[in-house]
Amino acid sequence: MSALSVQHLLGIKDLTVADIELILSTAKNFKGIINQPIKRVPSLRDVTIANLFFENSTRTRLSFELAEKRLSADVVNFAASSSSVSKGETLIDTVNNILAMKVDMVVMRHPKPGAGVFLAKHIKAKIVNAGDGAHEHPTQALLDAYSMLEVHGSLKGLKVAIVGDILHSRVALSNIFLLNKMGAEVVVCGPPTLMPKFITSLGVRVEYDLMKALEWCDVANMLRIQLERQDIKYFPSLREYTMLYGLDKERLDSLSKKITIMHPGPINRGIEITSDVADSDQSIILDQVENGVAVRMAVLYLLAGAK
Ligand code: NCD
Repeated sequence: MSALSVQHLLGIKDLTVADIELILSTAKNFKGIINQPIKRVPSLRDVTIANLFFENSTRTRLSFELAEKRLSADVVNFAASSSSVSKGETLIDTVNNILAMKVDMVVMRHPKPGAGVFLAKHIKAKIVNAGDGAHEHPTQALLDAYSMLEVHGSLKGLKVAIVGDILHSRVALSNIFLLNKMGAEVVVCGPPTLMPKFITSLGVRVEYDLMKALEWCDVANMLRIQLERQDIKYFPSLREYTMLYGLDKERLDSLSKKITIMHPGPINRGIEITSDVADSDQSIILDQVENGVAVRMAVLYLLAGAK
């Protein structure tokens, strides 16, 4: 069996095309398994995984935990709000204490960009980045890719519009890296103030007009405004944002073709996307969630086997 070129999953940036293909094809096998009556496989028996969440999460935390349990791993959960971090303990001390309890892998979400990279340099366990600040969210990009493949068959030449708060979005950055590597075309769309200054150096095109971006694309990935990461006001009001960049049924139905609608969740219904769009037959939002478990199983399984 082929193996990943990396020891940890810190970001899509570090992965090769072969790594991405291996993760996606392994995920396909796992998706088959979790849709059977007996969903559990013994692959990670005797492997202990700690989920360290220093930032709020529902979907990602549950998805990792389910993936770990379906692989028969032993799982421990840690939420920063109820831990000694609030008593002043450093990240390395917290993690080393957890590792002293013989943990093999760490899945970590952290508000600081690069937290996973830092940790990987200081501890022995395998690290999976479950989102580090506004930097990367590799498993989200992988599950997004898997979901796009299910509908469109190939990523090569696929036209993907990523709409919203590009500046603060780790989902946008990881998606851009992945889609570029796999030969898709990417347009980013959103208010100029939420567009990073050097975004075109990542090989994407910028489009400020939502309707033009939608008319061009095969897939629209609608992102949430990351209010919790915004230190200043980037636009006058959420109402104005919705008027310019919100996707509603009228806009969707006015397009000359049927596009696929994605969203990483959590959705702010009525802001970036209306309920009738989120719940329409063009939306694959719940497929993304389902695929997340299979993709995370693949990542954990492949990393556990890496030397
Ligand atoms: C995303 C995240 O946390 O970066 N959500 C997720 O992982 N399900 C996107 C977001 O919070 O808007």
